[in-house]
Amino acid sequence: MANLTSEYMGLNLPSPIIAGSSGLTDNLEKIKEIAEAGAGAIVLKSLFEEQINMEVEAQAVNNMYGNYNDVENYVSFYTKKHNLNQYIKLIKDAKAAVDIPIIASINCISAGEWTNFTKEIEMAGADGLELNMFILPSDPQLTGFEIDKNYFEIIRKVSAVTDLPLAVKMSWYFSSLSRHMVEISKIDSVKSIVLFNRFYNPDIDLENETVNSGHIYSVPEENAMCLRWVGALYGHVKSDIAATMGIHDGESALKNILVGASAVQIASVLYKQGPEAITKMNQRINDWMDEKGYENLDAFRGKLSQQNIKRPMIYERAQFMKYYSEHR
Ligand SMILES: Cc1cc2nc3c(=O)[nH]c(=O)nc-3n(C[C@H](O)[C@H](O)[C@H](O)COP(=O)(O)O)c2cc1C
Repeated sequence: MANLTSEYMGLNLPSPIIAGSSGLTDNLEKIKEIAEAGAGAIVLKSLFEEQINMEVEAQAVNNMYGNYNDVENYVSFYTKKHNLNQYIKLIKDAKAAVDIPIIASINCISAGEWTNFTKEIEMAGADGLELNMFILPSDPQLTGFEIDKNYFEIIRKVSAVTDLPLAVKMSWYFSSLSRHMVEISKIDSVKSIVLFNRFYNPDIDLENETVNSGHIYSVPEENAMCLRWVGALYGHVKSDIAATMGIHDGESALKNILVGASAVQIASVLYKQGPEAITKMNQRINDWMDEKGYENLDAFRGKLSQQNIKRPMIYERAQFMKYYSEHR
């Protein structure tokens, strides 16, 4: 029986398979099922920066007006609606119910007052915090420099208020993706870079001529993007790397570890197959390791990363041209 434990963000995971943030990680029953199925850790459903901001505003109004009834109603409306207390309760309950790491998650786009809330997440007992950074560079007024700066400001502001290890879930929309990831990983509190944040994509309904939401669930082919970038960044970033996107089975998890991932995060396959998907993935990883004679994940992690292979150019674009010129 191979040893599937993995150290990730300074946490000890019994398996490299993490249940990524999704609607399946926002209630205790599902969390217990996922843990029982053999997950290494769970990232809770993201709390949105906007939700925390509303709470911050409500508190300010409350302080200003004391016991004024209408204000109290306003405050309790927002407090109830946005359920920050429930998030804190979910962290506490999850920590009491399962013995794998629980990582909280915040979906954020700016370095606002909301960052103070991260202290409460720490006090509730979360083992780590994932920043789900959703900054689409769609504003033609903004330069790449300004967008990149925003990431650093958010991370630095969060780091100033909490000692929790941070994971940063990033998009691939950077003019210099490698440099950006390397620089972010140098921030002391950043213990993991999560590649990649999968956006909701637009699709077009030809019949009704409307713009709709595209596929919510990933397909395995999407994982090629992670293989390239995890493979290219391994050994260059200071932090761990987690791969997430299109990982639907044990083989795919193994490939991502071979290129350098410390852990993989899954969501779509959990929706499609339920928590048993994790049990099957662990089994497949174990069988392959036994077959190959690997005793632990460190024995092969990063073995096929760009820095560790004989022909590193295989990760680069030139190889793509070669492929097309040879395939007629
Ligand atoms: C229905 C659904 C809800 C999700 N909600 C969140 C979320 O709240 N926060 C987050 O960081 N990622 C969220 N994700 C993204 C997943 O955590 C994951 O990064 C992404 O789906 C890629 O993994 P997959 O290919 O295994 O689905 C969600 C994904 C799905 C399918």
